[in-house]
Amino acid sequence: MNTLSVKITDNLHYIGVNDRETHLFENMWPLDNGISYNSYLIDGEKTALLDTVKITKVDNLLSKLTGILGDRKLDYLVIHHMEPDHSGSIKSVVDMYPEVTLVGNKKTQDFLEAFYGITGNFLEVKEGDSLDLGDRKLTFYMTPMVHWPESMVSFDDKDKILFSQDAFGGFGALDGPIFDDEINWDFYESETRRYYSNIVGKHSKQVQMAIKKLEKLEISMICPVHGPVWRSKPEKIIELYDKWSKYDTDEGVVIVYGTMYGNTSIMAETIARVLAEEGIKNIKMYDVSKTHVSHIINEVWKYKGLILGSCTYNNGLFPPMKHLVNVIQMNNMRNHILGVFGSYSWSGGAVKSLRGFAETCEYDFIENVVEAKCSPTVEDLDKCAEIAKEMAKRLKA
Ligand code: FEO
Repeated sequence: MNTLSVKITDNLHYIGVNDRETHLFENMWPLDNGISYNSYLIDGEKTALLDTVKITKVDNLLSKLTGILGDRKLDYLVIHHMEPDHSGSIKSVVDMYPEVTLVGNKKTQDFLEAFYGITGNFLEVKEGDSLDLGDRKLTFYMTPMVHWPESMVSFDDKDKILFSQDAFGGFGALDGPIFDDEINWDFYESETRRYYSNIVGKHSKQVQMAIKKLEKLEISMICPVHGPVWRSKPEKIIELYDKWSKYDTDEGVVIVYGTMYGNTSIMAETIARVLAEEGIKNIKMYDVSKTHVSHIINEVWKYKGLILGSCTYNNGLFPPMKHLVNVIQMNNMRNHILGVFGSYSWSGGAVKSLRGFAETCEYDFIENVVEAKCSPTVEDLDKCAEIAKEMAKRLKA
C-alpha cells in the first residue's frame, strides 16, 4: 500500500492517491495512464481535510490521514465537490471522526443525504463565507457546473492557495512527481486536455465565469483534485483552461472516418494527402471503430479543422460515427471548420446524416460534400481533394 504523503507547505500535506486499476472514468472514459484523486490535509491550529477519494482507495487515504493527525482530532472535512471520485470516502472519515464538521453548500448537503444518507454536523457556507482555522482561513467561491451544480472552490488567505476541485485538473496518475515543476508536461498536457474535453468542456461557459470570478485573487498555488499541484506556474494551467473554455483552436485538421471494407478510408487518405500538399502540418487521422471517442474529441478540441467521413450502414450513419457525432454534440464543441464525405451504398443516409449534424452546430461548413456510390471513382477522389483544398484555404484565411 502506498502511504506516502507529501508536505506542500507548513501544515499543508498532499494525501491523495493514484488509481491505475480503474479502466474507465465514470465507466466511460479510458484511464490508460491512470488518474489521481487528490486530497489535502491542513494541520495548523485547527485540522481540516479537503476532499476525500474514491471508495476503492479509502484505506490508503485513512492511513495517511491518521499517520499525520496522530492523536489529534479532525475538526473539519471540506467538501468542494460531491462526485463520488472525491466524496466516496466521506462516510468512512465520518465513522473514524464522528465529531467532524462537514463543510459545504446547500446543494452539497442535499447530495450528502441522497448519496450516503449523511445528515447532521454540517456547516453550510455561501459565496464569500470564510472558515476560520486559527492560523489561516478558507474563503469559499461557488463554481456551479465546474463540474457539478454544488462545485465550489476555496482560497487560503495565508499561503494564497486555491483549492480548485475538478477545475484545473487532468487525467494521468502522479507517477512520483506531485508538483508541476517535477512533471513531464508534454505527457500531462494531452492528458489534461483530454480530461477537459471529456469531462469539463461541456460546461465551458461556466468555466469562463469561474475564471473571471477568481481573477481578483492573488493565486500563488493551485491544488486541484486531479493531476499535479501547480506550485510553480499556476498561471499556466489557468491560461490553458481559459483557452480551452473559449474554444480557441490551433491550425490543424482531425479526419475521422468510419469504414467497413476500406472504401471510405481511401477517401480519407486522399483528403489527408492533399491537406499535406496544401501545407497543413498538423493532420490527425482516426478510424472511428478503432480509437476511443475520448482520444478523438481530445484532438477535436485542439484543432480547428474537422473532417468526418462515414460509410452508410442500415440507411444511416455507421454506428461508431453516430456515437462520435453524439459526443461532439453533447460536449458542445465549437469553433470548427467542418467537411464531410462518405459512401451511398444501396440507400444512402450517412452523408445526409452528417449534413444534418452540420446544420445543428454553428461550424463553418464546407458545402461541397462528397458521396461515393460504393468504392470512390476518380471523380469522387477529385472532389475529396477539393474539400481538402477548401479546408486549407479557410484555415489559413
Ligand atoms: Fe473528479 Fe467531477 O469529479
